[in-house]
Amino acid sequence: MMPRVLVVGSANMDLVVKAPRMPVGGETVMGGEFSTVRGGKGANQAIACARMGAEVWMVGCVGRDAFGEALVAGLEADGVRCDYMRRHPTAPSGIAVILIDASGENSIVVATGANAELGENDLRQVPGFSAFDVVLTQLEAPLGAVRATLARAREAGVTSVLDAGPPTEAAKALVGGPDVISPNETEAKALLGIPVTEELEPTEAADRLIAAGARNVVLKLGAEGALVARPDCMERVPAFKIDPVDTTGAGDAFTAALAVSLARGDDLVRATTVGAAAGALAATVFGAAPSMPMGEAVEQFMRERGAS
Ligand code: RIB
Repeated sequence: MMPRVLVVGSANMDLVVKAPRMPVGGETVMGGEFSTVRGGKGANQAIACARMGAEVWMVGCVGRDAFGEALVAGLEADGVRCDYMRRHPTAPSGIAVILIDASGENSIVVATGANAELGENDLRQVPGFSAFDVVLTQLEAPLGAVRATLARAREAGVTSVLDAGPPTEAAKALVGGPDVISPNETEAKALLGIPVTEELEPTEAADRLIAAGARNVVLKLGAEGALVARPDCMERVPAFKIDPVDTTGAGDAFTAALAVSLARGDDLVRATTVGAAAGALAATVFGAAPSMPMGEAVEQFMRERGAS
């Protein structure tokens, strides 16, 4: 049986420019190619879950515009069920303006548009959360929708995973909500109310999130791998070394692969290893949604790296 995953989240059209380096304030840098690429953390994760072999339903909201059409068509092309995707009559589809520098690192600004209209009413369209093995959401969706998603998952006894991006201090109250919370280092600081400029050891960040009520933390450390923490233990998962082309969406591939692995019954450390492999592969391909890897590619990559 294919694992069943419900994704509640955002869909954006990414407007991407490659540049030799990021501009500083007030500076103009001459860039290279411009591309329009499907993205948004929710949609990326829904597509990644489908490519990892899950049956996926997405709850989200796009505008009645060309971007909205393309975003829903892209989800459907990957087999994501869009019965719960709403087309808002007036709000424009969400967009993200993305700069990618020569090292593959990105800088992103999101104009949330119709994603901001996603609310509890959209979740009421989903009859029963118990039909799913895992429910996955992110902080690009409005806080009310995230809170309601986690509450419904808990009531139904379904495993919930919260990707804690993008960083928001307002999400502090949600730390104890999901079964698994997965921030990167910047997001962990935001959840803890610590300035991004302040040094914080990953183990200390994980400890503090556990003390704040988190049940299971998967701290994404980029090229350093990940840290899995529970109240009683902590384990480091090493990174898969790659030459990054574009890191946009790598975190989404990570969290989605982790969620599908959990839905298959794997333990959290194994699921994190699968997530790290999927994230590494996504960083070797340009773009967000198009870079989400297929399950077979992730398995082969893990075999080649001796991690299967
Ligand atoms: O995580 C990557 C995503 O963040 C991009 O696709 C962009 O849309 C922003 O939501």
